[in-house]
Amino acid sequence: MEKTVHILSFAGSLRKSSFNRALLREALELVPEDARLEVFDLEGIPPFNQDLENQPSEKVKEFKAKIRGADAILIATPEYNYSIPGVLKNAIDWASRPYGDNALEGKPVALMGASVGMLGTARAQYHLRQTFVFLNMYPLNRPEVMVPFANDKINNDGKVTDPKTKEKIRELLESLIVWARRWGKN
Ligand SMILES: Cc1cc2nc3c(=O)[nH]c(=O)nc-3n(C[C@H](O)[C@H](O)[C@H](O)COP(=O)(O)O)c2cc1C
Repeated sequence: MEKTVHILSFAGSLRKSSFNRALLREALELVPEDARLEVFDLEGIPPFNQDLENQPSEKVKEFKAKIRGADAILIATPEYNYSIPGVLKNAIDWASRPYGDNALEGKPVALMGASVGMLGTARAQYHLRQTFVFLNMYPLNRPEVMVPFANDKINNDGKVTDPKTKEKIRELLESLIVWARRWGKN
């Protein structure tokens, strides 16, 4: 039997009613049986300071250990000012340092995102893909999961109500599992 694929996920929003956190909650419901999905909360990761990169906080140590223990990463990103939210970039910067100790190195990664705008985080996602080059991560190309007008697809209880969005999340998870097995030889 094939080994269960362990996916570590995090959202680039700290907002309680975040649409992107809602996407990850939905992913928890939809994850196939041959995978385990864990959601990590970026709340509490301090602003990056290179003077402290050799003495990271407990929260950063925990984040890096969880990344290292995972077979694949799933990121749900909002779009802030046509780009990646600082909270997400900051967490990635911590995970990548100090030089030579990049926890994200060689990790298969998939991304999705929800915004209230009409492009559904497309611009943020392409900026994030650019950082994957230097991080030497292995991004899944397809499906692209961009959720525009998120307020019409996620209700006030933070539940994804749009069937098409659910279908894309499931497709993304299934593709990421195949992708992780290819890289990780699970
Ligand atoms: C600082 C800031 C910048 C934003 N810039 C964009 C943007 O460039 N494109 C967009 O579609 N929405 C933008 N928005 C609106 C977000 O899509 C919206 O706040 C969304 O709910 C954020 O994701 P979350 O629900 O996961 O927190 C911005 C919101 C904030 C707070």
